[in-house]
Amino acid sequence: MKNVLPFKAIERLESLDTLDMPAIGVQRLVHAVLPPGWLKDVLHGVPQGHPLHPVAVQLPLGTWSSAAVLDFFPGTKRAATILLAAGLAAVLPSAVSGLADFADLHPQQARVGLVHASANILGTSAFAASLVQRSRGNLQAGKWLGRAGLLLVLAGGSLGGHLAYHQAAGANHAESVPHRVPPGWHPVGGLDEFAPGRLAGRMVGEVPVLVWRPAEGSGVFAMAAACSHLSGPLPDGAVTGPAGRECVVCPWHKSTFELRTGEVVHGPATVSQPRFRTRVVDGQVEVCLPGAG
Ligand code: FES
Repeated sequence: MKNVLPFKAIERLESLDTLDMPAIGVQRLVHAVLPPGWLKDVLHGVPQGHPLHPVAVQLPLGTWSSAAVLDFFPGTKRAATILLAAGLAAVLPSAVSGLADFADLHPQQARVGLVHASANILGTSAFAASLVQRSRGNLQAGKWLGRAGLLLVLAGGSLGGHLAYHQAAGANHAESVPHRVPPGWHPVGGLDEFAPGRLAGRMVGEVPVLVWRPAEGSGVFAMAAACSHLSGPLPDGAVTGPAGRECVVCPWHKSTFELRTGEVVHGPATVSQPRFRTRVVDGQVEVCLPGAG
């Protein structure tokens, strides 16, 4: 079955570069208001290991859809009004977590994200207006505003689905690594090719791997080289952190991963990098991904 018209329209939205100026403006504003730190990490979803935004939208969408259904039945005015108000009260975490993710999107994703956010803002405004009309006794006007709000947030949700599933914003871009690395040990170069303290990129089959030796101490460490956020090249990143807890900072959006464990320390990435085991055999560094294949 072919893709239908609305999908093609959303695809065209991806290349609508007239949206770049407002999108970049909002991204800059979010970066200025929300600097890197624990709050931004929580909003991205680092603690739970997946984006917070899709979870946070459940309450507003659930309450507003329920209110719209109740509006078709007599004697439900009070219940529908309570649901509308509850959805409005719950909209802040949903909006702020979405903005935090929006700030680190590629241009094509940001264009769709901008229209997604605009539809949701309009929908939320319609629900707020619906609440006002109901409180003034204008029940019919309140019902129609609620239905308009629901259509707008459903359109916004459809764009959000396109962002998440078609454009892979928020997806784990390192998920395929264990399926693409052949099982067993693989040579990646002589030990003396890896200067202590420097990041190096190598290939294991078709999978890019980051190899690193600490500037002080011994050992060789390796992890998947494509960032789990949006596949940024970690070998081009910077090494930070104190000795013993060194991290690599992704050059694209500054996600930070511990070099010894691959664990995510700061977002926007929410997922750790697949970490390879290493060994040195006859002066050659070899890597193996547990569970690969
Ligand atoms: S690709 Fe976005 S932080 Fe690495």
